[in-house]
Amino acid sequence: MKKRSITFYALSNFQSLLDDMVVPAERALHEAIQVSPLVHSDEAKKQKVENLLKEMRLSAATVRRIKEVFISEMNKGIHQQPSSLQMENTYIPELIDGTEEGQYLALDLGGTNFRVLLVELQHGKIMREKVKKYEIGSHLRIGSGYPLFDYLAECVSDFVINEGLQDTELPLGFTFSFPMVQHALDIGMLVTWTKSYNCPDVVGKNTVQLLREALARRGDTKVKVNAILNDTTGTLIQGAMSDPKTAIGLILGTGSNACYVERADRVEHWEVERHGEKEVIVDIEWGAFGDNGVLDFIKTDFDRENDANSILVNSFTFEKYIAGKYLGEIVRVILARLYKDGLFLSSKVTPNALLTPGNLTTDLVSHIEQDTVDGGKKNTVEVLSKFGVTIDEDDINVVQYVCEVASNRAALLVSICLAYLLERINKDDISIAVDGSLFKHHPRLETWMYKYIRLLAPGRKFKLVLAEDGSGKGAALVSAIAQRLQRRID
Ligand code: BGC
Repeated sequence: MKKRSITFYALSNFQSLLDDMVVPAERALHEAIQVSPLVHSDEAKKQKVENLLKEMRLSAATVRRIKEVFISEMNKGIHQQPSSLQMENTYIPELIDGTEEGQYLALDLGGTNFRVLLVELQHGKIMREKVKKYEIGSHLRIGSGYPLFDYLAECVSDFVINEGLQDTELPLGFTFSFPMVQHALDIGMLVTWTKSYNCPDVVGKNTVQLLREALARRGDTKVKVNAILNDTTGTLIQGAMSDPKTAIGLILGTGSNACYVERADRVEHWEVERHGEKEVIVDIEWGAFGDNGVLDFIKTDFDRENDANSILVNSFTFEKYIAGKYLGEIVRVILARLYKDGLFLSSKVTPNALLTPGNLTTDLVSHIEQDTVDGGKKNTVEVLSKFGVTIDEDDINVVQYVCEVASNRAALLVSICLAYLLERINKDDISIAVDGSLFKHHPRLETWMYKYIRLLAPGRKFKLVLAEDGSGKGAALVSAIAQRLQRRID
C-alpha cells in the first residue's frame, strides 16, 4: 500500500515535471507559428478576413497531430502496409566513395524542361560538365507516352552526336521525378503522373524499358541506361559529394518530396539479392501524404478548390498544400473568395483575371513576400496591377497577409516532416540537401524552416544546404555508383 502511494506520488510528480517542460515547449511553438497580424482600416472587415483564414493557421496541437500521423504513415509504408507514403526502396546503398572515374550521361525529367547532361568524374569529383535544355511541349506531356519517350531519345541522340560520342559506350542515369515502384536500381514502374504530366498509357510501365526501347529504335548511339532515380535522391547524392553529413534530400519546387538514408534492416521491400547493405536511400514520396484521408483534419475549402482546379484531382494532397505548382493557386482561391465576400477590392470592375484558375503563379507569391520582408509594397502593387484592378492600402495589406498565411503553412508542414526525419535518422549532425525553385526564390521559407525544425526537433544539429541541380548531376553520380556496384557483383 505504502509502496503504491510512493509510486503514485513519484508518478504524479513526474507528470507535473513533464507538464512544466511540455507546456513551455507548446507555448513556444504556439508563439513561433503566429503570423503577423493583418493591418486594416476597418476593424469588422479585418476580423472577417482573419476568421476566414483561421483554418489555414495550424495550432500547436494540430502540428503535433500531423507529426504523429506522419510517423504512423511512414512506419506503415516501410512495413508494406497500406499507407499514403510509399517509402520506396531506391536500391542505392552507398554514396560516392572517391573511386568513380569517367564520363556519365544524365537525363532529368520532371519539371517543364528536360535536360541532358554529360559529367566527367575523376576520383569521385565532377571535373567537367555539359548541360543542354530541351523544351517539352504540353502536347508531349499530356496524351500517349510513346511520343514523349521517342522525343527523350531524340534529345539524347542530338546531345551525344553533338559531343561526337555516338560510338562511345556511355552509362546513363535517368532522373524521373514521379512516383514509381522500384524493383531494382534500373527498374522503375510509374505509379502515377504528377505536376503537369499525364500520359495514362505509361502508368504501371517500366520507364527505363520505355527509354531503352526508344533509344534502340533510333540505334544511333551506344547509351546504356543503368539507373533510375528520383530528383530527391539525386539531390541527396550530390549534396553528399561536398558534405558527407548529408542524409536527407529535399525538393521544394514545382512538386515536393524527400528521401533519406534509412537503416537497411528496416526496409522490407527488397526485391534483389542483398549484399550486407547497412543503409539504403528511401524515397518517401510525401507528395501523396494524406491521399487516404489521414490529413483531412487540416483540409480547408480553399484546398478543396485548389484540388478541384488541378490536373489530377483527389491525389497528391500534401504536395497541393506546399509545392510551387499550387501555392499561388491557393492564394488566388482565397483572394477570389475574399473578393466575393466584399472583403477585398472595392473597384466596380470584376477582376476576371484574378477569378481565373491558374492565373496567380507561385513566383508572384514570392515576389509579394519580399515586400513583407522589406516592409514595402512595390512588388505587391506591381503584381496586382497585372490583374488590372484598382487597389487601396487595405487591399495591399490583405494580399500580403494571405501570401504570408499560405506560405507559412507550407513552411510549417515541411518542417514537421523534416523534424521527424532528423529524429528517425538519429545522427549527431545532419545536413539536408535542398533544391527547387520554391526554396530558392521564396524569401522567407528557409528562415521559417530553421525556426520550426529547431522547435520541433529540439537539440538536433542540422543545416539546410542548397544542392543546386542535384536532379541533373546527381543522376550522373548515381550512374557511376550503379556501375561500381555492378562491377563488385560481376
Ligand atoms: C513527384 C516526386 C518528386 C517531386 C519533386 C512530385 O510530384 O511525385 O517524385 O520527387 O514531385 O519533383
